[in-house]
Amino acid sequence: MVSKIKKADPEAAQVLVSALDTQEVTRGVLPPVDVDSRMNLLREERSVVLEFEPLWPTDIRKQLELVLAERRNALKLIGAGLQPIKTAMFKGPPGVGKTMAARWLARELNLPLLTLDLASVMSSLLGKTGSNLKATIDYGSSFPCVLLLDEFDAVAKRRDDDRDVGELKRLVTVLLQAFDQWPSSSLLVAATNHPELLDPAVWRRFDVQLDFAAPAIDEISALLRHEGLSDSFVSRIAPLLAGASYADIRRKLLSARKVGLLQDLPFEQVLLEQNASKPQSLRAEEVRRLRQAGMSQRKIADSLGISHPTVNRILKSLEKGNYGYQEPSA
Ligand SMILES: Nc1ncnc2c1ncn2[C@@H]1O[C@H](COP(=O)(O)OP(=O)(O)O)[C@@H](O)[C@H]1O
Ligand SMILES: [Mg+2]
Repeated sequence: MVSKIKKADPEAAQVLVSALDTQEVTRGVLPPVDVDSRMNLLREERSVVLEFEPLWPTDIRKQLELVLAERRNALKLIGAGLQPIKTAMFKGPPGVGKTMAARWLARELNLPLLTLDLASVMSSLLGKTGSNLKATIDYGSSFPCVLLLDEFDAVAKRRDDDRDVGELKRLVTVLLQAFDQWPSSSLLVAATNHPELLDPAVWRRFDVQLDFAAPAIDEISALLRHEGLSDSFVSRIAPLLAGASYADIRRKLLSARKVGLLQDLPFEQVLLEQNASKPQSLRAEEVRRLRQAGMSQRKIADSLGISHPTVNRILKSLEKGNYGYQEPSA
């Protein structure tokens, strides 16, 4: 609208821009409740507090910063006839920061966060889900906020149930319309562990899609250093945590801290012991990989946090082609 009237009446365009800018919001609708139970459908946080500062991998950080930049300069973009990013899809396995990223965005943008956990809404009857979803989206559209549709794939999971196919189609239509009509004053984020369950027609509608993944060794190391672990210890323990999600790693650190405290053992020792017991085949595979990359046996031992003789034994048995190698328990 602004770009349309700008030529004819620049002053009116300016008034419109500043009207959009106002933080004084009048909420046209009440927070949505379930039609039957009258329970609140949404969790609403006026200002988000994170229990922990995220450390974003470089590519994720770049994409999140882009969302922030567009949101912060939304009026400038709108003034030039451009749409700022208003819908985002976060994909990836559990525990890798999708929910956290939505929370972080809300905090950085200084906007309230509304969270709709679709897994719980979908457990109600599908017909009501449609009206619940619609009420939620109407509410989220009525004032500047970040609306997080968490566990978004729950919508698609019902597809297996033939009885509900008609209702489901209507539901998807509600969603698609909501995405198209979503106002540029708010940000809608959908997060899912199972993007493959979603109809491509749904996720094509999102302005941006971010792929979250388990942290790489470098990111694990950064997280551990951030937790105050020494560089030399980090280089020993990080490879043992490869493949774990951020959530797993935080759990492991916490558990080692508790055991260390209760049993009066050094935290480092507990963490190493708790994580050194990888399946043997997996460990042998790691040793083989590092050896092929030209690493010395001593270095392999250090980086995997296992003893030098153990590395030697694994390598010998790999040479013999004895892949069913059993590590002596002693
Ligand atoms: N980038 C990150 N940096 C640090 N910790 C993280 C990061 N991502 C996730 N975590 C930790 O993992 C936990 C679970 O993350 P969450 O965002 O809930 O995962 P999901 O991808 O399943 O939504 C968080 O509470 C936080 O402790
Ligand atoms: Mg989550």
